[in-house]
Amino acid sequence: MQPQAPEAPLNQLSQGSPGLALPARYYTDPDTATAETRRIFAKSWQLVCHESDLPGPGARLAAGVADREVLVVRTEDGGLAAHLNVCRHRGTRLVTAPEPAGKAIRCPYHGWTYKLDGGLVGAPEARQIPGLDKPRLGLLPVRVESFLGFVFANLDPDAQPLAEQCAGLAEAVGRYAGTDLVPVGRSRIHDLAGAEIQETNWKVAVDNYLEGYHVPVAHPGLMRLLDYQSATIETEESYALFSSTLRDKPSSNWAERLYQHIAAPMPGLTEADRRVWRYAVIYPNTLLDFYPDHVLAWTAIPTAVDRVAVPGAWYTRRGTGLRTRIARRLNIHIGWITNDEDSELVARVQKGLATPGFEPGPLSRRESAVGWFADRVRADLDAAEL
Ligand code: FES
Ligand SMILES: [Fe+2]
Repeated sequence: MQPQAPEAPLNQLSQGSPGLALPARYYTDPDTATAETRRIFAKSWQLVCHESDLPGPGARLAAGVADREVLVVRTEDGGLAAHLNVCRHRGTRLVTAPEPAGKAIRCPYHGWTYKLDGGLVGAPEARQIPGLDKPRLGLLPVRVESFLGFVFANLDPDAQPLAEQCAGLAEAVGRYAGTDLVPVGRSRIHDLAGAEIQETNWKVAVDNYLEGYHVPVAHPGLMRLLDYQSATIETEESYALFSSTLRDKPSSNWAERLYQHIAAPMPGLTEADRRVWRYAVIYPNTLLDFYPDHVLAWTAIPTAVDRVAVPGAWYTRRGTGLRTRIARRLNIHIGWITNDEDSELVARVQKGLATPGFEPGPLSRRESAVGWFADRVRADLDAAEL
């Protein structure tokens, strides 16, 4: 499904109810956070890395998914497999740091060895182990899927495939992403230890990403750069997609002005993508920025009821010209300023939400995606039980 054309956004904004924000307790109550682990994070597709993080057969890494750790591995045939990162013998954590290659998965404790697809190959002194039923002692499987070149895992064996949930998103922005993207810089999605921590509930961070209503007040740079009035929002069952057009009027800030001047699309994009920034949220916590000059993929992983880690990485496409590379550097510089502004605001929101008796006021139509997200969270948590 294509995002709405920039000519018609006000019609969209002037109609319909933007929905209701979540009550404050959803953001502050530790029991809600515990329920989310099971009801949201253990049932949804979680971004774990990019295909480029698993370069060849045997490449592997571990990533947290809900309350488990998942081992994602590139198989012999170039596909992907995922298993719980725990040895079937006595529970040792199998992978601690990413490894670029290898023929098998060998436990460092007693040496039980598994094929990349998880099957148990053997154990040292196997004849001394009564009941070593190899076919039943493979690594415990986890669903894994590559979508737009990003690797997602899901603990729910019955989950609808992500490609089905987000078919419209693939149609709208598939040309930006793919397996041929290469990371820029050292940040990686699976590097939780290296991630920025924001002092807020994960849903405040997602809410903030889901609306542009705060841009005129909170992001003077973005206001100079983007045509606020032309912003569009499209929400579907499993994702939300935004687009914003770059302004023609030169910004008073040199970096923004230069960016406006040289912004140029990566190979594979169209001329029409030159002046558009797009943002997507895949429910619940995958956040993807699609710029003409790069793609930024990040995720919001709660580490406490009022703390969220936001690991992410920047990507470009091979063969990107100098002009687009300069645009990317400027854009990432501008992005850091926006990020700092947001990170301070979401911490302030969290502090305010903790005020006893506070309940949120009405949403603007410009916050309709916040209402969409609140509805999804409420449905998953089944508020009656909380
Ligand atoms: S715990 Fe893995 S081989 Fe013993
Ligand atoms: Fe913001």
